[in-house]
Formats: sequence, C-alpha cells, structure tokens
Amino acid sequence: MSDLDALKKEILLAVTAANDAASLEDVRVSALGKKGRITEKMKTLGSLSPDERKSFGAAINVVKEEISAAIENRRSALAESIMTAQLEKERVDVTLSPRPGAEGRVHPTSQTIDEAIAIFASMGFSVARGPDIETDWNNFTALNMPPDHPARQMQDTFYLPSSGDQPTILRTQTSPVQVRTMMSQKPPIRIIAPGRTFRCDYDMTHTPMFHQVEGLVIDETTNMAHLKGCLMDFLRAFFGIADLPVRFRPSHFPFTEPSAEVDIGCSRKNGELKLGNYGDWLEILGCGMVHPNVLRNCGIDADRYQGFAFGMGVERLAMLKYGIPDLRTFFEADLRWLKHYGFVPLDIPNPAFA
Ligand code: DAH
Repeated sequence: MSDLDALKKEILLAVTAANDAASLEDVRVSALGKKGRITEKMKTLGSLSPDERKSFGAAINVVKEEISAAIENRRSALAESIMTAQLEKERVDVTLSPRPGAEGRVHPTSQTIDEAIAIFASMGFSVARGPDIETDWNNFTALNMPPDHPARQMQDTFYLPSSGDQPTILRTQTSPVQVRTMMSQKPPIRIIAPGRTFRCDYDMTHTPMFHQVEGLVIDETTNMAHLKGCLMDFLRAFFGIADLPVRFRPSHFPFTEPSAEVDIGCSRKNGELKLGNYGDWLEILGCGMVHPNVLRNCGIDADRYQGFAFGMGVERLAMLKYGIPDLRTFFEADLRWLKHYGFVPLDIPNPAFA
C-alpha cells in the first residue's frame, strides 16, 4: 500500500512540475498509458488472491482517478496561463490618445453606408456584395428588363468590351445583387447590398460613379405593410427625426409590382431645405414587392415566396443629412472638403446609436 502511496505522490509531483502540454502528456503516458506505471500495477491484480484483489483493486482505482483529475486540472491551468500570457502580449492600451496631427477623416459616403448597415443590421438584415462589372443579364434581363425594354435606356449604361455571348457592363444599380443572392441562397432572405454603381451622367446631382444601398426580403409572408414599416423605421432612425413624415407614392419599376417611390417631409422656405413635418415632400428612394418574373428568373417558386425590395442613393442620403450641396464634390478628393465634411474615425456615428 505504502508503495502505491509513494508512487501516487511521485506522479502528482511530476504533474505539478509539467510546464507545458507536451510534458504533461509525457507524465500521463508514463502513468496511465498502456505501459504506464499505474497500468502495470493494475496488471498485477490477476496474480493476487480474491481478497487482496478486492482491496488493492479499489485502492488503485482511487489513485488512478486522483491522478486523472490532477492531470485534467493541470491541463486547464496550463491552457489558461497560455491564454493569459497571449492576452498580455497582445495588449492594446485603448486609453492612448490618437497620434498628434492625425488628420484622416471618414468619407461621408463610407459614414452613411456604415450608418445604414447599423440600422438595417438591428432589423436582422445581413450585408451582401456583388461585383462592379456585371453581366447584362444580372443587371437587366433577370430584373424583368428584357433587351428591348424602354427602362434600359434611362440608365445611361457604360458598356464594356464583351467577352462572351452577352454584353458586359458596369452595373447601373445594386439590384443585380438581388439576383445573385436569390440564385445562390434559399429563402428566407433578408439582405442589404451597399456598393458602387455607374452611369454616364455628370452634373450637380449626377456623377458617373455613385453608391446605392439595395434591400431585399424574401419569405412566404412578407407583404407591403412590412415594406412600409421597415422603410419608415429606417428613414426616421437615419435622419434622427422621430416624427419624420414618410409617404409612399405609386410608381413603376420593372422589377417590382406594385412599386412605390418614397417621399419624406421637408420645407424649402427661403431656398433652404429642412427635413421634418413642414408640409412639403422630397423623393428619397424606390421600392416595391418583388415581381414574380424576377423570382422565377432567379429560380424561386413565385407561388410560394414573395417579398419586397428597395434601393436608394447613398450620396443623396448623405447630402440631405449632412447638408452637402453638390454631389460632384464627393469625388474630387479635396482634402479641405474632407476635413470639413468628413468624420473623425472613432466618433460615435449618429446620436441614434449612442
Ligand atoms: N434600382 C433602382 C434604381 O437604380 C432603385 C430601386 C427601386 C431598387 C426599386 C429596388 C426597387 O430594389 O425595388 O433606380
């Protein structure tokens, strides 16, 4: 017995002395492994008398369990100390003030996209992305705009040299991300797709490259009332105006039926634009219930599934929220402009999220 006690002590000491996972494993194998010292002792049980076997068997089992428990404890203590050492090594002092003279700013376009993502994420949307260079099919045909559709002409498309049998273009809208998402995912779908879009146009309110945020919800029950609630909540949160009037006006888009344009309340007195409940209206985005043809084109059963989509211009949202008068200035890369309209990186984006 005292022999067993001595062995136990010796092994427990070795367990405590093991300083990493590998040496702990060595100790385990040398005690409890196939040829371990405890295992060897168990093998001697067969040669004992029944009485001795009983008492020695019980004693050795207790020792075995004690050793196993000690090894487990040591293993988690080692893991924890490795983690602590790593955390200590990678420690970042978040109280350090920013480098003096750091002048970088977040561009209003990025800021606005971040704010839109934060609001839609809180409603359960996730972010989807698609490429700037698209096929004609994804950008138009799948969205219920066949080759001779008049709506195509309104989009001032940039055509690229085509490689295959169909034209390649710079996407004119983020709507092709709807197509890509529906073709690669099964409903329920709830995504927004922020990104660059391109149209051959240039004046105070048009630039050849600008950004949109697209939204898409597809399931078995989503209806027009959900669309209205979702966009009203978004617009009120985004502009930080709790009673912002929001109006849905019948409209037409080839990819939605019914379609609506959404206006928000404003005032235009004395040449100054103010958002809020002032009696006047300003158009802000397009939306509607996804057209069954679009669902079918993307391989979704239109008798079972339905949902809504919307699309809006990021810079238009930014211009209205932050009082920026000319769209072209967004892309002139003028540092003075960025310093004036840009955002300090670690600022809280919007009081609505504070
Ligand atoms: N793609 C439209 C455009 O660029 C915007 C839009 C309108 C997107 C209605 C939608 C929608 O998803 O349902 O003008």
